[in-house]
Amino acid sequence: MLLLDGNATSAAIRTEIAEEVSKLKSQGKKVPHLAAILVGEDGASQTYVNAKVKACENVGFESTLVRMPAETSEEELLSTIKGLNENPNIDGFIVQLPLPKHIDEDKVTLAVAPQKDVDGFHPENVGRMSLGLPTFLPATPNGVMEMLGRYNIETVGKNCVVIGRSNIVGTPMAILMSRGTNPGNATVTLTHSRTKNLKEITLQADIIIVALGKPNFLTGEMVKQGAVVVDVGIHRIEDASKKSGFRLVGDVEFETVAPKCAAISPVPGGVGPMTIASLLQNTLKAVTMRK
Ligand code: GUN
Repeated sequence: MLLLDGNATSAAIRTEIAEEVSKLKSQGKKVPHLAAILVGEDGASQTYVNAKVKACENVGFESTLVRMPAETSEEELLSTIKGLNENPNIDGFIVQLPLPKHIDEDKVTLAVAPQKDVDGFHPENVGRMSLGLPTFLPATPNGVMEMLGRYNIETVGKNCVVIGRSNIVGTPMAILMSRGTNPGNATVTLTHSRTKNLKEITLQADIIIVALGKPNFLTGEMVKQGAVVVDVGIHRIEDASKKSGFRLVGDVEFETVAPKCAAISPVPGGVGPMTIASLLQNTLKAVTMRK
């Protein structure tokens, strides 16, 4: 069983990006600048945003973290987004989700200038992705594609089952895997909460990408021998034996699934670090696309 090591793969990508930044610097050019807006105090979101900012620093990007209180009005947030859209110093930015309930996420997504939308969430960029046009691909699905590509996982003509149809992972994942690219060219089945006989479907799968947000959902009996399994989930589970009081698990029950797999991504250290690498790739792309 091959472990799809997101830490090592992400480190390789970050080294490549750092080399590009050095080149830009030596040519006297501007280094990429990523901004992140964080509204409120959600613990997981703070961890993710801090990791993104740190990753920027490590590759030589500039970064700006805009923290706004949980009571921030939708109008104030939209005005901050407008400021970043118009700021020539900022190449790309993200608004960390989820947002407080009183803010309409769709309005926020639409407010981000498509050419600075390094999350790839704006409808214009989602449309471009669907049509196979150059664009910012959403970080998590793109990270999975990079991982499959760099490990030379064969996808052409394979049965790929995606579990979960969210706008930011499952749906774009299904689109990317079915496109005529490599990795890609798979026969994709997108499954969700209303899918009947899920186990019958997953047992046919050569590749299973799990992104539904339920701890240990995919179990060994749902997976055929020799499958490739990619786990996009991440959850904190209480664990008194750990100093922190918790441990991280994915959407895949690793202990029962891994022995059946040709390859599997672990949690932590799988898709998570790839997501950050993708965001950095998109920010570098934002600079090149502006030229
Ligand atoms: N929340 C969970 N994943 C993401 C992501 O990729 N981008 C943003 N902005 N928020 C998220």
